Amino acid sequence: MAASSESSEPSSSSRADPVSGQATFVVVANRLPVDLERLPDGTTRWKRSPGGLVTALEPILRRNQGAWVGWAGVADAELDPVVEDGLELYPVPLSSAEIAEYYEGFSNATLWPLYHDVIVKPEYNRDWWNTYVEVNRRFAEATSEAAAQGATVWVQDYQLQLVPKMLRMLRPDLTIGFFLHIPFPPVELFMQMPWRTEIVEGLLGADLIGFHLPGGAQNFLFLARRLAGQQTSRGNVGVRSKLGVVQVGFRTVRVGAFPISIDSGKLDEQSRSKSIRDRARKIRKELGNPKHIMLGVDRLDYTKGIDVRLAALKELLDEKRIDPAETMMVQLATPSRERVDSYVQMRDGIERMVSRINGEYSEVGRPVVHYLHRPIPRDELIAFFVAADVMLVTPLRDGMNLVAKEYVACRSDLGGALLLSEFTGAAAELRQSFLCNPHDLDSVKDALEQALEQPREDGRRRMRALRRQVLTHDVDRWAKSFLDALAHTGAAGPALIAPSEATESDFSEHATGEN
Ligand code: ADP
Ligand code: F6P
Repeated sequence: MAASSESSEPSSSSRADPVSGQATFVVVANRLPVDLERLPDGTTRWKRSPGGLVTALEPILRRNQGAWVGWAGVADAELDPVVEDGLELYPVPLSSAEIAEYYEGFSNATLWPLYHDVIVKPEYNRDWWNTYVEVNRRFAEATSEAAAQGATVWVQDYQLQLVPKMLRMLRPDLTIGFFLHIPFPPVELFMQMPWRTEIVEGLLGADLIGFHLPGGAQNFLFLARRLAGQQTSRGNVGVRSKLGVVQVGFRTVRVGAFPISIDSGKLDEQSRSKSIRDRARKIRKELGNPKHIMLGVDRLDYTKGIDVRLAALKELLDEKRIDPAETMMVQLATPSRERVDSYVQMRDGIERMVSRINGEYSEVGRPVVHYLHRPIPRDELIAFFVAADVMLVTPLRDGMNLVAKEYVACRSDLGGALLLSEFTGAAAELRQSFLCNPHDLDSVKDALEQALEQPREDGRRRMRALRRQVLTHDVDRWAKSFLDALAHTGAAGPALIAPSEATESDFSEHATGEN
């Protein structure tokens, strides 16, 4: 892909207002769906951005012909709006200092650990907060310029929680939705946040606020009543909340659960192609045709429990419950947030564990753990999903986890087994997986052993049920349920707190429930 300077001006691809040329549907996210890459020879090119948000929203933007406002992934890139690979992009520049304070600092060393059950300790730093406010304002202003009169704007994720309120003040004509892609924390954890009232008020600028699970929506409703209704220097904002609805003065904000998904039909189709099937067979052969291949696919993030699965593997090997001669693990780990301390430490720990297992159990030319620290091209990733006998998804906490759904979508052969942490949003829907508690290593070991040894017919039955869920509840259905609800925001309208129609599972039985 070519970089901005060679790409065309926007407005040809989007559903634009015929007079202003501005977009009538706008997605706003920290990152654009593509990152700008600066090559050693001084040229630039676009490459796919990391993470589940882009996986989910890129096809939606394409089908809705919208515009995308976001950061191009590098410092100090002053880029004009551009159409790239059919997507209309509005880059928001960030300086190196802003990347350090807004992105690495407040977003990923404060909000990320706080919202993921304080797996590492969140840092509360006033300078980071001030930069977070400034950068959110810049995103709101950029969005205001991109959006046509009366447009629908969909703000994404924890990096931009102040944008709904800022945007509403700039542009009261817009319909504004917000979706959080990570868990919303329990009330007693959120209350740690020094700027908790500002964040809740920022979100309440939206007409509709979406979470993955009903538990997150409930936490938010409670906090909205408790925090935003308080007497402030500007007087009481008069907030009342009830099931699925917050009344902010004369405005009604709706709150609901919308479990996100993937473009499962497309993935199913891609995974059936001859080239992918051939490549999957070749991968197995290249690995020495072991009896069992276990696979992990993650951003290298401490929430993902990569250490948990390695510890489980090590103990099962130590206890001779699995045979290193016939079992192999492949861990594909995309580099992520590499300048944040907790990520540096976690990477060291994981790489030590890999090397320890390999030191003790590998033969020359036949490592037990294959570890690749780089993003894998999409087709290759699909071939790995098709090749793997057991998919290892063991996060300590995850809003949804799209990898679990991707694996299922790729198994039209009804082969394979999914080991899935109860602490993922996906566990609420994928009940026929081998569920485990990542905080209890014995639970992970037992579930992994069962997954490796599952009888063929049992496995086919489980996979058939998982596929029914994933193929019928795809990302289009998710986006439609959110955008339909957004289009019908207003005083009347049904409460949204109940498990949305996008899942069949009984959330009340879900072990974590975000509460
Ligand atoms: P998160 O959004 O926290 O990264 P998800 O599981 O929801 O987690 O989404 C991750 C997305 O990134 C998926 O689409 C997955 O296929 C992709 N991905 C994860 N690891 C890799 C990798 N090593 N190479 C390429 N893509 C990856
Ligand atoms: O929702 C998870 C998320 O943080 C997204 O907001 C983000 O795009 C993705 O993971 C990848 O993270 P990052 O943009 O920090 O590399």
